[in-house]
Amino acid sequence: MKHESIEINSALLIILTLVVISIGGLVEIVPLFHIKGTVEKVDGVHPYTPLEQLGRDVYVREGCYLCHSQMIRPFRDEQLRYGHYSLAAESQYDHPFQWGSKRTGPDLARVGGKYSNEWMTQHLIHPQSLVPESIMPSYPWLMQPLKYQDIEARMKALRDVGVPYSLTKAEYEANVKKFGKDLADQFVIADGLKSVKAEAAAENWDGNPKEITEMDALVAYLQVLGTMVDFSKYNQGYFSTFR
Ligand code: HEC
Repeated sequence: MKHESIEINSALLIILTLVVISIGGLVEIVPLFHIKGTVEKVDGVHPYTPLEQLGRDVYVREGCYLCHSQMIRPFRDEQLRYGHYSLAAESQYDHPFQWGSKRTGPDLARVGGKYSNEWMTQHLIHPQSLVPESIMPSYPWLMQPLKYQDIEARMKALRDVGVPYSLTKAEYEANVKKFGKDLADQFVIADGLKSVKAEAAAENWDGNPKEITEMDALVAYLQVLGTMVDFSKYNQGYFSTFR
């Protein structure tokens, strides 16, 4: 038998094994050279503002990802329920990703704007007061003051892994071009603290205007989820949706 002649000839067996392994390796490695091309070009995706970023850190700390995914798959049922499927571009500034793999609760990738700030706050303090059959835990301690003093260090760390928060004038100007002045102003690392305070004051996130709480940050984060891309501009072919 042909196969037996390979099995008893160790040199041939090693060579053929190497050939097979390298094909497998190439199949895995080559697509990585084209990773830039797999991130769709869409407008609107921008890094999180400092307040949203802090809210995201609270989300990670509380382990919300253990029950909530943030990735809508391109299936009809998911798109009917949650909206357009998630694009790679939408999580390009996420470190770490919150795609998740468990859906005890609904997917949150497009929860931004679905409810009012009041609803979000009340729901997090006591979910069953709004959804009696809910099994989501209560998070009343989120009304405690937010620790935001280290925001600049956090922004620097994110910059190191590729989020375009700006340290230099050139980086700031590039951001103005890319994201507009209002957002670019919030991405200046040296102004992180100022930016958190301004954003917390700009909207009544948690119903308590006197204090910047963890709830302010978390609600700000939830309300931006899935709202960055205007899908009404992309309604053909690749981007077509069932809605
Ligand atoms: C034990 C699992 C569990 C954990 C942990 C959990 N949730 Fe939930 N969540 C649920 C379930 C179940 C629902 C659906 C019922 C409801 O609305 O309360 C839900 C609903 C929600 C909704 C409304 C979604 C929609 O589209 O109606 C939001 C927003 C939400 N959760 C945010 C959070 C955040 C933020 C955290 C972390 C602080 C969190 N959840 C932690 C289980 C969980």
